[in-house]
Amino acid sequence: MLNIPLGLPTTTVTELMSSIAGTGQDQLRGGYSRPVYSSAEIDLRTWFIEQATKRQLSVEEDGNGALWAWWDLPTGIRTNAVVTGSHLDSVPGGGPFDGPLGVASALIALDLMRSRNLVRTRAMAIVVFPEEEGSRFGVACLGSRLLTGAIDRNKALNLKDPDGNSFADVAIKNGLDPRYIGPDRRRLGQIGVFVELHVEQGLGLAGLDHPVAIGGSILGHGRWKLSMSGQGNHAGTTLMSDRKDPMVAAARSIAAVQHIARARDNARATVGRLQPVPGGTNVIASRVDYWLDVRHPDDAVTAAVVQEIHDAAQLIAAEEGCVLEFSQESLSPTVSFDAKLSGQLGLALPNAPILDTGAGHDAGVLAGHVPTAMIFVRNPSGISHSPEEYVEDADAELGAAALADALSSLLG
Ligand code: GLV
Ligand code: MN
Ligand code: MN
Ligand code: MN
Repeated sequence: MLNIPLGLPTTTVTELMSSIAGTGQDQLRGGYSRPVYSSAEIDLRTWFIEQATKRQLSVEEDGNGALWAWWDLPTGIRTNAVVTGSHLDSVPGGGPFDGPLGVASALIALDLMRSRNLVRTRAMAIVVFPEEEGSRFGVACLGSRLLTGAIDRNKALNLKDPDGNSFADVAIKNGLDPRYIGPDRRRLGQIGVFVELHVEQGLGLAGLDHPVAIGGSILGHGRWKLSMSGQGNHAGTTLMSDRKDPMVAAARSIAAVQHIARARDNARATVGRLQPVPGGTNVIASRVDYWLDVRHPDDAVTAAVVQEIHDAAQLIAAEEGCVLEFSQESLSPTVSFDAKLSGQLGLALPNAPILDTGAGHDAGVLAGHVPTAMIFVRNPSGISHSPEEYVEDADAELGAAALADALSSLLG
């Protein structure tokens, strides 16, 4: 048993973040690549379990692979619990803070609350959700979607990673029992409120005199897969007039994505991943797979933008002698956080502005089921999903202190 005196903060957010800085560094563009169940993400789970155990929390893994570290009441009653946390997986070459900041801040907030000898009437848990980014199996917030039933369990079990491994196989390999993968009403019923702290991912707080904001809403967003098929052929022997080149059709349709999204206020549409099959310099591709991300505050506009992109890509496919397949991988409506809970946070953090975000979060999934709120910590670079994502050390500590104040007001 580690002998950490209770009631004393053991470290700072900055120190905790430094302790994972060597894990999962990306060799291609810098930053971090920590896809779910990679060795880097598993190392961070181990780190979390060690940190929680040091704090004498009781750690369990749910049927969907989320970790829950409980700060129990003497009665052991876990209903109506105050839950906080985030995720430890990352996008490829992501920044250090997206996910881990919320986990490290939760641990430090707990230390701060203990040092204040807070009198509680509710249990607290720190949760780490798996596959928040959807970087490996394609569906973001997979852990919270499974918990809440927002994704069909069979659909989830059959999701494939880029190497063709199914989520079911990877989950089993990592100790999950497929019988327990899926909605978990008992666990969901334990969550009284959920508060996620997260790095701000745009310029919302940059240059402002506020280190933290309270979340207002999350833009509706979704992902679609496009497969453009043509005729694979030889780069030297095939005349330009004889080609059915899916790379050209894909490129033209990606230019159309930008054009269509720019014509709508506040729409965001992105193709950030593209795979030519087979992918050879002297090979006209047989097929190109690429993935589309579309976001807008109005779900009807999101649907209209996606339809326009579909129609444009279909037309381009016909012009290039190619065939398009277009399928939806996930869709999340615009979510507003709970007004009463956010109001309570506002009383604990009186100067914090309200900020909407274009980024998705597990909090957005949980918001359909339990009162949910978010706290954002200033990011002076305004950059995220990139190595340049940044939080000042002082702001990280202020964020954890704000989380402690917010949680204290809920736990009493
Ligand atoms: C996740 O961070 C997303 O918004 O894509
Ligand atoms: Mn995140
Ligand atoms: Mn992210
Ligand atoms: Mn996210």
